[in-house]
Amino acid sequence: MSRKLLMHVGPTIINDEVLSAGHVNNAGFASPDFIDAMKNALNGFLYTVKSDNYMPFILPGSGTLAMESMASFLRPNDNVLIISNGVFGDRWKAIFSRYKLNIDYLKAEPGKAVSLSEIERMKKHYRLSVMTHVETSTGVRFNVNEASQILRNVSDLIVVDGVASISGENMEADKWDIDIVFTASQKALGAPPGAALLAISPEAVSELKDDSLAGFYNNLYAWKNVMTSILDGKSAYYTTPPVHIIFSLAKAFELIKKEDIDNRIKRHSIVAESIRSGLEGLDVKIIADREFRSNTVTAMMIKDPSRFMSYLYSRDIEIASGVVPELKDSYVRIGHMGWININDAVATVSAVERSMHEMGYEVSPGQGLKNVQEFLFKNNL
Ligand SMILES: Cc1ncc(COP(=O)(O)O)c(C=O)c1O
Repeated sequence: MSRKLLMHVGPTIINDEVLSAGHVNNAGFASPDFIDAMKNALNGFLYTVKSDNYMPFILPGSGTLAMESMASFLRPNDNVLIISNGVFGDRWKAIFSRYKLNIDYLKAEPGKAVSLSEIERMKKHYRLSVMTHVETSTGVRFNVNEASQILRNVSDLIVVDGVASISGENMEADKWDIDIVFTASQKALGAPPGAALLAISPEAVSELKDDSLAGFYNNLYAWKNVMTSILDGKSAYYTTPPVHIIFSLAKAFELIKKEDIDNRIKRHSIVAESIRSGLEGLDVKIIADREFRSNTVTAMMIKDPSRFMSYLYSRDIEIASGVVPELKDSYVRIGHMGWININDAVATVSAVERSMHEMGYEVSPGQGLKNVQEFLFKNNL
């Protein structure tokens, strides 16, 4: 019998307790149990982004809905700045170009991040600037803290897409002067897909008005009343909430608090380093430059990615395909976020090693694993 290991960029492994917390019946969205779970999930999200005074939102949808909800802060002809380090940075362009906006766009080549000096050169006044904390297409982590300090001089609102980072990377939205940060339930929070979570600074919340470019569903001005009610312990309806996902999320945040957010981030960093030390032992090229490597995603070059993925799958390890158009046929992505541990890293490197051998790469048994063990020994793990 096989036991699969999901080393994907999302959905990720779901902890059994988190999954079964969603197995509730006869719970309406106005029930005290649901309101309690929703309130706990809202406050739990603020804990993960270390910003107690922000307003939390949980919407039925995915990360892209949170991105699109930024229209709630925009009006026709506003200036927006997009800082893109890859495919998910580019998604902002796809979204904003559907509205009447003036878009400026900075783009990095795969494996790198836009430089802070490039951002310093932007002198226009922007209503909103957007950036991606971890670019899931390449595994590049961006220094959103430093970028935010620079953007503050030119931008009313600073937005960070934390979909592939939150709870796996440090995020201190309040301290770093980031107005809006968001994620989705299926990434490093390790819950089922179906909810978008946002934390918004009090200043930005006060700017939510009824005359923005946002449509009906993704309109944060309307959702604000729902969140206020629930935080007050009262039910409210705008559209149907993802009831079962909220129960799972509440449990995920309970476990995240128990682990402690800084310990959780450390665990992500250890697993990431374990996997990468193994890949380096196998002479695999990692796409992200060393200085930009994230705790949550590693993109690696490989010939014939779909064959490689199917070899891994036959060894019960599921990873993600590449998505950067110019590299699509020469790389894959390993997700290491959520409930992963060092045993998963060892299993993954072992399966990568055996699959590479099967594909005709010259690798000797234990070539990658030796590096992992050395890393673990060195760190007393
Ligand atoms: C960084 C980033 N932003 C946005 C998204 C879009 O999220 P979703 O697929 O949940 O709509 C993703 C999805 O992988 C992502 O990794």
